Amino acid sequence: MNHHESGEPTHHQRPDGFIPLVYTPVTPEECLRRSEQLYRRMDQRRSVRQFSDRPVARGVIENLIRAASTAPSGAHKQPWTFVAVSDPKIKAAIRRVAEVEERKNYEHRMPEEWLEALEPFGTDWHKPFLEIAPWLVVLFQQNVERLPSGQQRKNYYVTESVGIAAGMFLSAVHEVGLVALTHTPSPMGFLSEILDRPPNEKPFLLIPVGYPAKGCEVPDLKRKNLAEVAVFLEE
Ligand SMILES: Cc1cc2nc3c(=O)[nH]c(=O)nc-3n(C[C@H](O)[C@H](O)[C@H](O)COP(=O)(O)O)c2cc1C
Repeated sequence: MNHHESGEPTHHQRPDGFIPLVYTPVTPEECLRRSEQLYRRMDQRRSVRQFSDRPVARGVIENLIRAASTAPSGAHKQPWTFVAVSDPKIKAAIRRVAEVEERKNYEHRMPEEWLEALEPFGTDWHKPFLEIAPWLVVLFQQNVERLPSGQQRKNYYVTESVGIAAGMFLSAVHEVGLVALTHTPSPMGFLSEILDRPPNEKPFLLIPVGYPAKGCEVPDLKRKNLAEVAVFLEE
């Protein structure tokens, strides 16, 4: 029989293999201080489209992926693969195909409304950062899990899970002093071929990671304020 913190017994069974939570207590004051500090830091994260070619050690990328992979996921399936590319030949191949596709998008596939929405970002089909950034991290989602037996099992809440892992990856990149772009070249299927991924995996995001170029500029965006994004229901 299990016991809540209050000492009340609970009557449901639980499987073996439980361990005490690793938890560091915090005072309410410290919690508030950290929340303010965190917000200020997160507010400085920006999508960067001008990268320096300054290298980033593989160990850093490994730790960023480890951090992202601590994300919660539906039934703990961790339905993601991070493919980290620094090989200049592979980066060039990705740039080549991405630019062909993006050129078609900008020149005739995107409706006028979409092009208008993109105007403030000054983006076009040229994607030099795909070769200049030291790392391209391509995140794949696994819609089905391939068991060692060769059988396949459907994964659940894959988009939600991979989206959370992506968000944690982007926060981790920012936290260690690097910059990234959340990039969705469209269509993205070519990434499976170039990166030789199995059929149960689908490209989710392409994330160049590195240092910003000297004199890098970003669009002067305003973020929605709290009242525009949150509703509080209190007594
Ligand atoms: C799902 C998703 C897809 C995006 N795709 C692109 C993209 O293909 N190209 C690009 O330049 N920016 C892309 N962005 C970046 C957004 O334009 C950027 O996040 C937004 O303008 C806010 O700017 P910030 O990230 O600097 O706060 C994408 C962002 C998200 C979340």
